[in-house]
Amino acid sequence: MRILVTGGAGFIGSNFTRMALAGRPSWRITVLDKLTYAGRRENLEEVENDPRFEFVHGDICDPNAVSSAMRDCDAVINFAAETHVDRSIDDAFSFVRTDVDGVRVLLEEFRKERRTLFLQISTDEVYGSVEKGWSSEEDRLSPRSPYAASKAGGELLAMSYWTTYGTPVVVTRASNNYGPFQYPEKLIPLFLTNAMDGQPLPLYGDGMNRRDWLFVDDHCRALMKVMENPRPGRVYNIGAGQEYTNREVTELILEAAGASRDLVRLVEDRPGHDRRYALDVGLIGRELGWRAGTPFPEGLRITAQWYADNRPWWETIKSGEFGEYYGKMYGRRLAGPEGGR
Ligand code: NAD
Ligand code: TYD
Repeated sequence: MRILVTGGAGFIGSNFTRMALAGRPSWRITVLDKLTYAGRRENLEEVENDPRFEFVHGDICDPNAVSSAMRDCDAVINFAAETHVDRSIDDAFSFVRTDVDGVRVLLEEFRKERRTLFLQISTDEVYGSVEKGWSSEEDRLSPRSPYAASKAGGELLAMSYWTTYGTPVVVTRASNNYGPFQYPEKLIPLFLTNAMDGQPLPLYGDGMNRRDWLFVDDHCRALMKVMENPRPGRVYNIGAGQEYTNREVTELILEAAGASRDLVRLVEDRPGHDRRYALDVGLIGRELGWRAGTPFPEGLRITAQWYADNRPWWETIKSGEFGEYYGKMYGRRLAGPEGGR
């Protein structure tokens, strides 16, 4: 099987590519990636010399790039997206462009040939904030950030191609991932690397927002199951059932990094900050026999070790584009009235 992995130079896509090439000798993978700030060639270093791997530098919004990258591919798995909620609050343009229109371009090319599966990677954030209970696949979508709204647009568009043209689409909605190679703008790698450097940990609001933390390998294993058992028209939640408040995550990170609690700063909240996400994962368990196997403290230990062992990877990022972003994003928050608490 030849698979087009879009966004394969990012966090989850690169983990998926490594796992798939290592575990499935008959799979060939073409990665199409624009290499935005979040996409890095070095994330794919391990597979660079594998004859079953090919890298194409290009944009999913560009029909010509998509057409040549998709040639001879049986399946597409679309990870390509703008992914950071805070950046979407600053400027939604690239989110709508890639996360909605990019999906349209991929779908249009996909349906020109007979292919087996278009797997659209979506997120639990499309359900919006869930104060109580667990979201199931039939629940109403109620996205509340420009990121979540764009992801909802992308997956609805994908599913509309199934309804309208019979395009074999599957959508997965995963909870918060963490693990090696995650760009340090996200909570866990940001706090781990700041803690390792003795820098402040900016905890938004009261720090009591809750997320369900899914180790990236568990997510990738679920996606391999979906690839191997394609059921067009399905939507699957993929979560770990491991809810922690941001304060609890912070405590575990401080412990893993051997850092002091004095580094924690309660800062101004994120606008529209979703309080909680939680998924009912019964469907993928029943249909595909998947469930997450990595307990959060264990996954966090592996992740902390990876960041400790791979300082050059994140120091390069933090001293480049990210440094500028961090200054703009956190300078005022850390200096503001709530910044000192
Ligand atoms: P990421 O930000 O680390 O990587 C995104 C990748 O997409 C990068 O390599 C980037 O260069 C590429 N990209 C962006 N725009 C592109 C374009 N126009 N054309 C081609 N490539 C482009 O993201 P991630 O955390 O690995 O997330 C991957 C997917 O999983 C996304 O669709 C995201 O919405 C979804 N998801 C992520 C999480 C999470 O916790 N990280 C949870 C659920 C779902
Ligand atoms: P994040 O990793 O951005 O993922 P998402 O917002 O997509 O769930 O944030 C996870 C949680 O951590 C979220 O409740 C916001 C919070 N957070 C902080 O408190 N401080 C930070 O610096 C960041 C990046 C996130």
